[in-house]
Amino acid sequence: EQINKGKYEHYMQKEIHEQPESLTTTMRGRLKRGGSTKAKTVLLGGLKDHIKSIRRSRRIVFIGCGTSYNAALAARPIIEELSGVPVTMEIASDLVDRQGPIYREDTAVFVSQSGETADTLLALEYALENGALCVGITNTVGSAIARNTHCGIHLNAGCEIGVASTKAYTSQIVVMAMLALAIGDDAISSQARREAIIDGLFDLPNKVREVLKLDQEMKELAKLLIAEQSLLVFGRGYNFATALEGALKVKEVSLMHSEGMLAGEMKHGPLALVDENLPIIVIATRDACFSKQQSVIQQLHARKGRLIVVCSKGDAAAVCPGGSSSCRVIEVPQVEDCLQPVVNIIPLQLLAYHLTVLRGYNVDQPRNLAKSVTTQ
Ligand code: G6P
Repeated sequence: EQINKGKYEHYMQKEIHEQPESLTTTMRGRLKRGGSTKAKTVLLGGLKDHIKSIRRSRRIVFIGCGTSYNAALAARPIIEELSGVPVTMEIASDLVDRQGPIYREDTAVFVSQSGETADTLLALEYALENGALCVGITNTVGSAIARNTHCGIHLNAGCEIGVASTKAYTSQIVVMAMLALAIGDDAISSQARREAIIDGLFDLPNKVREVLKLDQEMKELAKLLIAEQSLLVFGRGYNFATALEGALKVKEVSLMHSEGMLAGEMKHGPLALVDENLPIIVIATRDACFSKQQSVIQQLHARKGRLIVVCSKGDAAAVCPGGSSSCRVIEVPQVEDCLQPVVNIIPLQLLAYHLTVLRGYNVDQPRNLAKSVTTQ
């Protein structure tokens, strides 16, 4: 299955570009279009006997490492909104280190592309011992996490070979958005919102196809950044995760120091780093946090920050306080707010890819890293 590179030079490049198809297979058979009398719904076969228990749980805890953790962070707001259940986040190793509280009334969701990550597996053992309902979200049928959880959802994103996870990340977000829809399925008050998200999911592969056209533009940006020492990425709300994941992609493959930060924390420290040399990416697509991001950009601009802004199509003037000479703008198609992280990460994946190739490093097998870390 799909293990040759086809027309691409690297697996990472192939996996970035096949996201319209991997997202389509992730959603296949799971979204119901509805009809004149029937509502649009989501059907997750692997959860059907457990969805009521998840809905009734006191808390949902997401547990994962690396990119899988970031995907859960991207989905957290929509799960909270549609389920009304409090959601907490745990990095698997940290949960185990702290022996943090996990209860019988909790639903613990284990997110792992490989389904074999040692830290996540240990956290699973711990949650099982504590009596939580354990749900697995993996891309590998028959993996340890798929086998040992009570129920789960497969990503069906196809085999991912590049060590840096790309298509699995976007499929994970989509699966967790579908999980939010399934948990919230009984609430009449949010039906219109749920239907808008389902429409957004149907259209998502087209929007991803559109955003992939930024490939050449991201290559040009990579040329400008090739010799930099460091890169910051600011996001908030749905796109805090995009900041963390974008920075993780850049550092793991291009070996450039890069940090993703919560924009709301900018004034509590990171602002000290800002000068005319350090490149800063700000994610400022349209959602409830947009005006706050506009003010972050203004503050960075006032300190002569070197800005690269990811914004919604047509918003260049709204995000660039000093006109186009003051910042570089990357325009992406707008989608439902909770799906926007799927679109927004793609230019950053492309940037990480091109930076790595231009710097002459191994993009599919970065130094010191493994696709699946099966030791502690
Ligand atoms: C390794 C990989 C990362 C991945 C993480 C979690 O560190 O290099 O790309 O995100 O493990 O892997 P998992 O298979 O559990 O998602």
